Amino acid sequence: MGNDKRIDPWSSDQSTDYARIVDQFGLSPVISSKLPNPGMLHRRGIVFAHRDLDVVVGCMNNSDPFGVLTGLMPSGRMHLGHSMVIEQVRWFQEQGGDITVTVADLEALATRGTSLSKGRETAINEYIHNYAALGLNPDSTNVYFQSTRSPVQRLGFTLGRRTNLSEFESIYGFTGETNLAHVQAPLVQVGDIIHPQLEEYGGLRPIVVPVGVDQDPHLRLTRDIAQKTNWFNVKPRKSGGITVSLSIQEDNLDQMGVSSNGRVDMATRNSVIEQIVNEISSLGFSDIITNPKHGTIEIPAATSVDKQNIRMKMLRLERQFGGMGLLPPSSTYHRFAVGMTGDKMSSSKPETTIFMDDSIDQMSKKVKRAISGGQPTVEEHRRLGGVVSKDVAFQYLQFFFERDDKAIEEVRSEYESGRMLAGEVKQICIDRATEWLQDLDEKRHQWSDRLTEFLAADST
Ligand code: TRP
Repeated sequence: MGNDKRIDPWSSDQSTDYARIVDQFGLSPVISSKLPNPGMLHRRGIVFAHRDLDVVVGCMNNSDPFGVLTGLMPSGRMHLGHSMVIEQVRWFQEQGGDITVTVADLEALATRGTSLSKGRETAINEYIHNYAALGLNPDSTNVYFQSTRSPVQRLGFTLGRRTNLSEFESIYGFTGETNLAHVQAPLVQVGDIIHPQLEEYGGLRPIVVPVGVDQDPHLRLTRDIAQKTNWFNVKPRKSGGITVSLSIQEDNLDQMGVSSNGRVDMATRNSVIEQIVNEISSLGFSDIITNPKHGTIEIPAATSVDKQNIRMKMLRLERQFGGMGLLPPSSTYHRFAVGMTGDKMSSSKPETTIFMDDSIDQMSKKVKRAISGGQPTVEEHRRLGGVVSKDVAFQYLQFFFERDDKAIEEVRSEYESGRMLAGEVKQICIDRATEWLQDLDEKRHQWSDRLTEFLAADST
């Protein structure tokens, strides 16, 4: 693997070398000015990278349907770190997305030993309750449990045929000692991510998964598997334009006109090609070059902008032929906020973060003790100024508590110039966090007997 490092989704020791991760795994940068109504996490560069987000932005711009999938492991208490993904889900929901929330109770059982009944209780009382209080709208939110949604498990099982142990060893570092429930967890997650595209869960539409970079291995796996199932590959042509090529697989030999002796039945093949040509013509292309024997269809005038429309047409056609017609998921990645002690945030170290139900007193103590970017003496501070990149109070305003960009920039310039002291930034943080926690607490009360509104029928 050379200098390449593996990402371990189950380790609390997450890498924050974002530039290397972007580079190594080929993520694209998020450019907030290209988003409709960018949210505060986009504007501040906190959601910094993506895969295929343009597909979802296209849906927003055209008012086409798209879905959002997020998941939680129901173990431990919910803290600020967990709330970031909900801020993003809420934004997608405001832009028209439907929301599916996975309670990863099988994963928590496999990797943390959390029993399914305990997982259920934690998911509802701790996570879903706070998701409601953070502003998810139940009308387009569906919460389900991995353990009770059999289509998800069935997908995990069937799609498992498209990967193997060596690939799991290289992606996740699994060894001969790895517990087999743990080995299955990523496949269940593939099922989570893919299943909203099934007809009974909303059908073919782009699905975006907002996550921290620690979850990217699952997205790479899912995208790779989804793409392997596709019957029609849509790729840029070397000389410009786009090529659609048939992907002959064990389960589509009949439909693709391949007889049991391996010979191509040209009548069937020509009919497949003709149907593809019809679909492509319907998008307005007239110059289409076909090679039925090789199973290729070239569209010289198609641009990268047309690619998504062609892909969707091909996936729909694949479904008509009896294939799964799966679109690889889109994803976005956010930076992690620093832990309050300089360590990573972790539910098992309460001093590193603020829990959703911490009292104002507990929160204030943590902020007061948190690492600051102030200089050792007031004299030096006035001269050199504070360092925002090291300052927990500043970062928490930016990541969580202050929605107004102008207010953030004012604190930044006052602090960096040395006019504002570290203690003053902490006090601002405490004030904003107080409002934030009080509001959340109030909303939690409002939702406490209405949580079933969020649960899908198979969760109750
Ligand atoms: N693996 C995630 C975690 O560690 C939980 C999860 C399960 C998930 N399925 C998902 C996250 C699908 C996003 C999408 O918390």
